[in-house]
Amino acid sequence: MIEAAALSRLGLGVTGPHAGLGASRAATTRLIHQAIDLGVTLFDTGPAYGRGEGEYRLGAALGSRRRDAAFIATKAGIHAGGHRDFSAGAVEMSLRDSLKRLRRDHVDLLLLHGPAPEEMTDKLIRRLEAFKARGMIRHIGVCGRGAELDRAIELGVFNALMAPVNDQLDEAARQRLVRARASGLSVIGIEVMAGAARPSGPPRSRGDLWYLARQIKRRLRRDPPAAAGAAPAEGLAWALSQSWTDSVVCLTTRPAHLCANAALVDALEQRPATS
Ligand SMILES: NC(=O)c1ccc[n+]([C@@H]2O[C@H](COP(=O)([O-])OP(=O)(O)OC[C@H]3O[C@@H](n4cnc5c(N)ncnc54)[C@H](OP(=O)(O)O)[C@@H]3O)[C@@H](O)[C@H]2O)c1
Repeated sequence: MIEAAALSRLGLGVTGPHAGLGASRAATTRLIHQAIDLGVTLFDTGPAYGRGEGEYRLGAALGSRRRDAAFIATKAGIHAGGHRDFSAGAVEMSLRDSLKRLRRDHVDLLLLHGPAPEEMTDKLIRRLEAFKARGMIRHIGVCGRGAELDRAIELGVFNALMAPVNDQLDEAARQRLVRARASGLSVIGIEVMAGAARPSGPPRSRGDLWYLARQIKRRLRRDPPAAAGAAPAEGLAWALSQSWTDSVVCLTTRPAHLCANAALVDALEQRPATS
């Protein structure tokens, strides 16, 4: 498990719009600085987002600004070129490239990015443990949503899981997270606002245009539509009210939304967990 003091309850995703045309580099930098000022220490990114652009922006924004207070989670396995390779060699190359883009000598959490259960080989695990011993990574984890998480819990070597945490989860998915927590893994929730309706009307920002383009791409690929979920604030409150949730990572392009999310988390901290 990751020491609770290292992880803020609310994390910021430097992904998607922040790794491409959805936000300017300057806007991403401002949002990261705002997050730090609001007490956010957890930042999630990965080489798969914009061929490393998300990592690059995060590294540049943290520069000298409370750099040591930040807890950086990045990923490996889906690489900067978008290809998938969980071999130990590819994961090592990916980590080395991530460290350069992040301008750091270590990452706080390296997550395998959606591996199949059989891709978590002994050789890969040994390599991850060697990175830890060398101080290149502090913690290891798995980001996913199904059988790969069961395998990660079973292996007993990981420190954290990153997985969807919202009220659309079926009982098996909830029980998996309860089991993970009981096995000593930290649970970092994503998709906590999954399904929240985007505001109707014409796009009002670069971020809105980015979300619209993503929606069109998903329709063209015939991806199943996201289940209708709770409103953002309700989703965030639900996720953080679960006793098995350590932190959540939210994506936003809007300073006002970041402020609202941070204020809600502060208010929730005063209340006890419900389950
Ligand atoms: N989803 C995945 O497959 C996945 C996989 C790996 C990691 N992650 C991590 O999880 C992070 C979160 O992504 P997610 O997909 O789970 O999305 P999410 O955080 O559940 O939802 C993001 C959406 O909610 C909106 N939003 C945020 N705060 C809001 C507020 N206060 N009021 C209204 N709308 C609000 C954002 O729009 P605005 O920009 O307009 O605020 C954005 O459209 C990613 O950045 C990444 O770090 C996700």
